[in-house]
Amino acid sequence: MSRVTIDVDRAAAALRAGGVVAFATETVYGLGAQAHDVSALARVFAIKGRPTDHPLIVHLADRNELAAWTSGPVAPAAAALAEACWPGPLTLLVPRAAHVPDAVTGGRATVGVRVPGHAQALALLAAVGDGVAAPSANRFGRVSPTTAQHVLDDLGDDVDMILDGGPCTVGIESTIVDTTVEPPEVLRHGGIPAAQLEAVLGHAVRWVAEGPVRAPGMLAAHYAPSCRVELVATSAEADALSSSERRRGKRVAVHDPGSDVAHFARGLYAALRAADDAGLDVIVVVTPDDDALGTAINDRLRRAAHRLSG
Ligand code: TXA
Ligand code: MG
Repeated sequence: MSRVTIDVDRAAAALRAGGVVAFATETVYGLGAQAHDVSALARVFAIKGRPTDHPLIVHLADRNELAAWTSGPVAPAAAALAEACWPGPLTLLVPRAAHVPDAVTGGRATVGVRVPGHAQALALLAAVGDGVAAPSANRFGRVSPTTAQHVLDDLGDDVDMILDGGPCTVGIESTIVDTTVEPPEVLRHGGIPAAQLEAVLGHAVRWVAEGPVRAPGMLAAHYAPSCRVELVATSAEADALSSSERRRGKRVAVHDPGSDVAHFARGLYAALRAADDAGLDVIVVVTPDDDALGTAINDRLRRAAHRLSG
């Protein structure tokens, strides 16, 4: 039987039997294991090559399940954000309930949970009948997958099954908000703009920019393709830079958001992967305005452009 399937019940049965199943969400594909199955969780870390102290997000079928994963009463801010934004690209950090395995939380006092805005994922989660812990379905430090083919390219035979839910409609990861602090803090910019969170809460949230790593895995050089990534501010600069690179014999692609930032986000990771697959030397990217989805895109672009050598 093929590893790639559209059969939700088959994928749910594989998860219940202790399997590791990649599945689509609206953001990126996840590499899922039943959240209480510690041996399946160990395989997720092994397949990704991810340090075991990096916590995983638990995916839930329904926002009413939030309370069952939280210790104590659900904080008003968490309840309001869940009500307004779920299903959708928002992860809430809440105080962990006692039953949540250390393998999920990396031994932390909090657990990250979200209800994905993707019909097939919700059907899968309902059929599993438990939370599904899932990091992005890429090898550690690489660009996240936004199609089933990307997962197959990265993880191939290592994963038991890939539930094909089509190309991801958002294309960058969820926004992560720590609701255990006052005011809540954005630890990772993503599919839900910070301004939308502020509108729900009726007050400002804190933005954690650089500095100490509060969400392990948010390393500077994450999301980097093998080719060089050059960031420019305007289409004219992109033209000038790509011409001069071509004169020097380099193979170049240009990625320009134009006016449709959501469309740009949807295609960004595929474009970075395609540049590598085509053996390009350089991808020149025009950065979008630094607000709403543009903030999340620019965060990923800075990481993609980061070179440890400077
Ligand atoms: O959109 C997404 O969030 C995707 C899809 C599959 O849901 N998932 C995803 O997972 O991006 P991952 O593991 O690649 O990134 C999750 C980030 C990591 O940086 C992790 O350290 C952080 O969330 N995280 C998860 N739980 C946490 C916790 N309790 N405390 C601090 N950081 C946490
Ligand atoms: Mg990831």
